[in-house]
Amino acid sequence: MEIGPRMVATVVTVMSFAVFLGVVSADPDMLQDVCVADLASKVKVNGFPCKATFNETDFFFAGLAKPGLTNNTLGSLVTAANVEEIPGLNTLGVSLARIDYAPYGLNPPHTHPRATEMVFVLYGELYIGFITTANVLVAKTIKAGEIFVFPRGLVHFQKNVMDAPAAVIAAFNSQLPGVQAIATTLFAATPPVPDDVLAMAFQIDAQQVEMIKAKLAPKS
Ligand SMILES: *[C@@H]1O[C@H](CO)[C@@H](O)[C@H](O)[C@H]1NC(C)=O
Repeated sequence: MEIGPRMVATVVTVMSFAVFLGVVSADPDMLQDVCVADLASKVKVNGFPCKATFNETDFFFAGLAKPGLTNNTLGSLVTAANVEEIPGLNTLGVSLARIDYAPYGLNPPHTHPRATEMVFVLYGELYIGFITTANVLVAKTIKAGEIFVFPRGLVHFQKNVMDAPAAVIAAFNSQLPGVQAIATTLFAATPPVPDDVLAMAFQIDAQQVEMIKAKLAPKS
């Protein structure tokens, strides 16, 4: 086949499309070596403005070294290590978290709108999975040293299946993955999602909606 103007145009179109996909499939690429987040800046941009000066403390965090406290209703605690804790992560497109689970504790169904997640089990045994947009549950029990992946945006959960503590390290391809926990998003929003909306959506009555809302209300 000859390399004519039409073929060149086709190649350019395909490449432009690939570049476009690359830009939208994760956090945008950095445009400089570092852009340490100025978390206090009043200026709003996509991410955070860069601080004028920085040092090693902006790239350091010891918060995942120890287990988090899991003595809450669900028996789990997520400790984030994202740009809000590590300003040096700004524009770098990655972050971590540590999740600790009490015996039989649950990290309830939730989504991360901006990141795919990989979990690596430090210790314990968990039943974990995600649900596709076709409502297929993809789930498995995993143990220490093993990894599982939650594709970006899909609802997922982890349940400790043992009568012993468990912990994982989670990796994200975003400096700030964001999280929406399904139950609290719907039943503990401020201002509240109207009862009739939830009653119809879940095919229950307003009284049952109120009961769930009362249980999920933020503790103050
Ligand atoms: C790093 O900078 C911060 C101010 O942003 C300062 O408080 C801290 O003392 C500095 N740390 C070192 C080790 O220089």
